[in-house]
Amino acid sequence: MEYPTLFTLTILLLSMLITSSSAQLRQDFYKNICPDVESIVSDAVRLKLSQTIITAPATLRLFAHDCFVEGCDASILLASPNAEKDNPDDLTLAGDGFDTVIKAKAALDNDPTCRNKVSCADILALATRDVVAMTGGPSYAVELGRLDGRSSTEASVDGQLPHADFNLDQLNSMFALHGLTQTDMIALSGAHTIGFSHCNQFSTRIFNFGSSNGVDPSMNPTYASDLQQECPIGVDPSVVVNLDPTTPNTFDNTYYTNLQQGKGLFTSDQILFTDTRSTNTVNLFADNITAFEEAYVTAITKLGRVGVKTGNQGEIRRDCTSVN
Ligand code: HEM
Ligand SMILES: *[C@@H]1O[C@H](CO)[C@@H](O)[C@H](O)[C@H]1NC(C)=O
Repeated sequence: MEYPTLFTLTILLLSMLITSSSAQLRQDFYKNICPDVESIVSDAVRLKLSQTIITAPATLRLFAHDCFVEGCDASILLASPNAEKDNPDDLTLAGDGFDTVIKAKAALDNDPTCRNKVSCADILALATRDVVAMTGGPSYAVELGRLDGRSSTEASVDGQLPHADFNLDQLNSMFALHGLTQTDMIALSGAHTIGFSHCNQFSTRIFNFGSSNGVDPSMNPTYASDLQQECPIGVDPSVVVNLDPTTPNTFDNTYYTNLQQGKGLFTSDQILFTDTRSTNTVNLFADNITAFEEAYVTAITKLGRVGVKTGNQGEIRRDCTSVN
């Protein structure tokens, strides 16, 4: 009597665990709910991108920051007091990423069929695919069916996002928390092929490094002196530089050829080439753009599954910045 009961209980528990941890995402989730969701979102994204190129990096980074904290549930968009977006690690998220989701949501709400039917988390996932494709990167089918979370706290961000001074072990362990491999991490770092950084994120690499000239020896000397010009000591803290000095607005694999030349902006970028455990992957992505694009699509799809909320864990927000 005791054994079958225990056995049944175990099976029940196991199946509950499995269903709650695996996201119920589907590419055709909105087929009967909002059939034109893809074109409505991409039209809104295209318009926003035509107004400012920052739309692309801002949206892509917003998605990563959302997924790393409390999963891909649009909790980053909530504007309650002391929310995720108020954490120091999220203060540099560019407003154009938030605005892209707001604009796409407004376009969906303009369509009676789609009004309040598509989650903000799914809109962000679609917009992320669109900005990458529209700046020259790969396109891919987006898995859909995420619900929006109901909580967002400033404290929940602490220790969850990678920092510019991370080494390979720190990067790997933080990505591993979300089921992402070293290869996934390197492919996702390729997102630094577009966008900007504030000078304080790498100033110790060009001025205060513990070397005779104060420059990180893994940095290309010409690149270092360019950065010293753009970001002199005492520079206005709002000044930004391109993450990819070669093709700053194109989603391509020059991020990896830059690394081969010592032109990675952050320690966390350059370490991918200098640490011998990851050099081969950087070389592969630099030599073969198809290999990079395939790895990127695999990795961003895996990232999009992190902590997805379904059933009574979430809702479809009427306003992406506040819970219903
Ligand atoms: C590997 C670990 C990572 C580290 C340490 C890191 C760090 C940073 C830092 C410090 C900035 C500049 C912030 C500023 O000063 O404005 C930045 C920008 C950016 N990051 Fe990352 N990041 C990482 C991974 C990712 C991932 C996984 C993605 C997306 C898939 C991403 C996308 C971006 C983009 C697109 C920007 C430019 C944002 C803009 O121009 O508004 N990063 N990152
Ligand atoms: C580049 O990578 C793709 C995808 O992994 C592979 O099919 C192709 O053979 C590679 N090309 C070269 C020249 O190695």
